[in-house]
Amino acid sequence: MPEKMKPYDLHVGDVADAYASWPPPACIISDGAYGIRGFHGDTTDEEGLVEWYAPHIEQWTKAAAPGTALWFWGTEVGWATVHPELKRQGWNYVQTVVWDKGLSHIAGNVNSNTIRRFPVVTEVCVLYQRRLEVETEEGMLDAQQWLRHEWRRSGLPMYLANDACGVKNAATRKYLTNDWLWYWPPGFAVAAMAAYCNQHGLESGRPYFSLDGKTSVVSKQWDRMRHQWHHVHGLTNVWSRPPAA
Ligand SMILES: C[S@@+](CC[C@H](N)C(=O)[O-])C[C@H]1O[C@@H](n2cnc3c(N)ncnc32)[C@H](O)[C@@H]1O
Repeated sequence: MPEKMKPYDLHVGDVADAYASWPPPACIISDGAYGIRGFHGDTTDEEGLVEWYAPHIEQWTKAAAPGTALWFWGTEVGWATVHPELKRQGWNYVQTVVWDKGLSHIAGNVNSNTIRRFPVVTEVCVLYQRRLEVETEEGMLDAQQWLRHEWRRSGLPMYLANDACGVKNAATRKYLTNDWLWYWPPGFAVAAMAAYCNQHGLESGRPYFSLDGKTSVVSKQWDRMRHQWHHVHGLTNVWSRPPAA
């Protein structure tokens, strides 16, 4: 198989030496320190986990593209401790998955006379996505702020976005809103707003909805900036299966 066709590359050694050669990843899976003295170099508890992860997160952020998915494994308190650092470095929380290892994980290991809490049979795996951040004359904007910023820059009244997208009011109520009703618009809607603003908006501001300042974002490009998702019916955010033997 030619070099570039290899299905994967397994780096053996310190992951810090591998980051520099990473292509932009669609997905990063992290299973590092847990704060449970799990391996030589793990912290003894959640204290110190932020320092442990910070340089790794820095490299993930550097390599990632908008929409890169990150699956972050840990204990509940370990993840909760690192969460603010992930957020700070550009990762948006999507959801928490609980791995339920089942009773076989603790069978024979629980002393009911001394235990003072429930036996632990879980780990968490938390999904994040690298957020889109666009540098503008108003500073760094996230997707919600940037879409609004681009429409306003055109000088057109907001309600015309509904005409642009061919919808009754979804564009103003959802795609361009400032509040919690906002959701990530489909690529065709962003492309439609871009085309409309490029045709009817202030000439001086064209192209609108452009990430490189040269051409407006196209539908597929916009859709790719969200984490990949292939829905499977029946799969939930609780994964029940015993650990590998
Ligand atoms: C929670 S364990 C994950 C184990 C693994 N996923 C498995 O199921 O066998 C964390 C692992 O990360 C390794 N590790 C810690 N720092 C590392 C680094 N800088 N580069 C590569 N591996 C590292 C540890 O030696 C340990 O084996």
